[in-house]
Amino acid sequence: MKIIIVGATGTIGKKVTANLKQDHEIIKVGSKSGDIQADITKPETLKNLFEKAGSFDALVSTTGVGHFGPLKEMTAEDFKVGLHSKLLGQINLVLTGQHYIKPKGSFTLVSGILSNDPVADSVNVSTVNSAINGFVNAAAQELENDVRINVVSPGVVEDSPELFEAFPGHIPVSMDRVVQAFRKSVLGVTNGEVIEVW
Ligand SMILES: NC(=O)c1ccc[n+]([C@@H]2O[C@H](COP(=O)([O-])OP(=O)(O)OC[C@H]3O[C@@H](n4cnc5c(N)ncnc54)[C@H](OP(=O)(O)O)[C@@H]3O)[C@@H](O)[C@H]2O)c1
Repeated sequence: MKIIIVGATGTIGKKVTANLKQDHEIIKVGSKSGDIQADITKPETLKNLFEKAGSFDALVSTTGVGHFGPLKEMTAEDFKVGLHSKLLGQINLVLTGQHYIKPKGSFTLVSGILSNDPVADSVNVSTVNSAINGFVNAAAQELENDVRINVVSPGVVEDSPELFEAFPGHIPVSMDRVVQAFRKSVLGVTNGEVIEVW
């Protein structure tokens, strides 16, 4: 399979890439790193990405940021950080990528446990994660040519110890389980699923 991984050099993306590259062709994408540079917050760069990559079998997204901060200080501008990056950025990968993906291909996005189990200061990211899950649920009904779409929703991963203090009481999840969730989405048959790794 030819698989595009957006965020391939990140904490999660590099482990997903290492696993899938054993038996698949991988095109690594980042805003500054990777084989092709594209910025998910700049839709015009995504068309360039797909023109350069050519038709593909699967797109995996392990990228996108949100705003962390207390609700009482939050502004609309703060809130737009997650909307424009993690939410709309990943949605734009699908909106543009659907015109380049092969029949029976798949999209796999990333959300996270904060949709269901918020921590302090997570209002923006919790909202965005829920919206990504909703997008995938609905888009799965409409993608044409048997193209599938799923979202992996990890808990805080064991490879991100810098986040542990912000997630009191959360038990970090193993990276191997997260990687296997991405494999399930890309190589399996599931469609429209929020694959929870909690
Ligand atoms: N780490 C966790 O515990 C955890 C748990 C649940 C959910 N998640 C979610 O999983 C995703 C990845 O998390 P992570 O910890 O692996 O992040 P990370 O280590 O910060 O990696 C981010 C990756 O995305 C790329 N990137 C950043 N901005 C980009 C942009 N505007 N356009 C295209 N690529 C961009 C980076 O490459 P460049 O620098 O080259 O752009 C890098 O490859 C995030 O959405 C996060 O919310 C993470």
